Amino acid sequence: MGAGMTLTREQRALLAGQGGEMAGRMMRLLVRLGQVYGAKRMLPISSAQISGVSYRSIGEPGLGFLEDIAASGVKVRALTFLNPAGMDLRDWRALGFPRDFARKQERIMAAFREMGAVASATCTPYLAGNLPRFGEHLAWSESSAVSFANSVLGARTNREGGPSALAAAICGCTPAYGLHLGRNRGPTALVRVAAPLRSRADWGALGYWVGERVKDGVPFFAGVEPPGIDELKALGAAMAASGAVALYHVKGLTPEAHRFECRGLESFSVGRKELDSVYRRLHTAGKAAGGKIVRTRTKTKTAAQTRPDLIVTGCPHASLGEILDLARKLKGRKLGIPLWICTSRAAKQTAERMGLCAVIEAAGGSVVADTCMVVSPLEKMGRKVTAVDSAKAAHYLPGFCGQQVIFRDLDRLLKEALR
Ligand code: F3S
Repeated sequence: MGAGMTLTREQRALLAGQGGEMAGRMMRLLVRLGQVYGAKRMLPISSAQISGVSYRSIGEPGLGFLEDIAASGVKVRALTFLNPAGMDLRDWRALGFPRDFARKQERIMAAFREMGAVASATCTPYLAGNLPRFGEHLAWSESSAVSFANSVLGARTNREGGPSALAAAICGCTPAYGLHLGRNRGPTALVRVAAPLRSRADWGALGYWVGERVKDGVPFFAGVEPPGIDELKALGAAMAASGAVALYHVKGLTPEAHRFECRGLESFSVGRKELDSVYRRLHTAGKAAGGKIVRTRTKTKTAAQTRPDLIVTGCPHASLGEILDLARKLKGRKLGIPLWICTSRAAKQTAERMGLCAVIEAAGGSVVADTCMVVSPLEKMGRKVTAVDSAKAAHYLPGFCGQQVIFRDLDRLLKEALR
């Protein structure tokens, strides 16, 4: 037993410090977490995914914490992937990331490497070499990846914090509570979708509206045309941003949906009016503090306030399919506004091999790996107005990076940017 939990012999040994002082501390953290949530045992995990990787997010205290852990010599026991860092880890100079920031970010990556983590930095590990199967237990912490793993793949993970995911990675287990238990995976609300969803931004707007209402519940969607992977990742990311949704079901599509009845659940209907309200709220560029559009006398002044300094897509990280689609649209064209496509290193390398990065760069865009618009130091790079097609990014950019936001679907953003 470990303080009210049944532990295996190996887990008891870790708790007793036989795997080293640091592993003992990590096991104590997991046991305490289990006690708080009433877990009776630990579950072995097949992988961990750790947030709090960008120097922008964790600063000096986080860097010191990670270097201390790495210096202890402790290693991860489970396959461990990392969330986006604060910069493209290879091409940061060419992309204009500040040198002092880069030095700190490199130390963070070195600490994780020392612990044995995979040197990936992506919020889509399931597209970059870590695809869990149905029913596997995980300890993932990036909210959009958690949502995708639970909902689309049918794997099981709570929404871990960075430290608890790191502890799980080091100990190879996580307490059995929350979404690891089948009884907590049923829907809490029925969502009827009454409008055609025309773009990934529409899927994000839908998720944003639903997340605000169901909070940390489990929505069950009915009435949607079967979406693709890219639409599902946009939906889950937005629900996790406006609410704390870590699991959803889509009728006839996601792997656990058939297990549940929705009779008697609270229900919502979402139409074009609701989606448009999200677009209006998340679009902050050109608005005064009171939320009204700023009217100015001269055209020049109005344009200066509402024209983006940068367009960024790839939140969650763009799939190879999304990069391919963009390269087709940009081939032989010229962008009047810089464009970033954020993605994993794995997708960028394949895109390079296929010549897609060259096409995008010739048009004035950049494929940016390992980071994203929210965890990179955008404001230090002189950006003030950023245009995105992601509801999640639109939600976080004002608070995290001091950006005014233009939130539109990607085709519309491209149309405005292409000369
Ligand atoms: Fe991923 Fe960054 Fe969006 S971590 S989900 S691209 S805010």
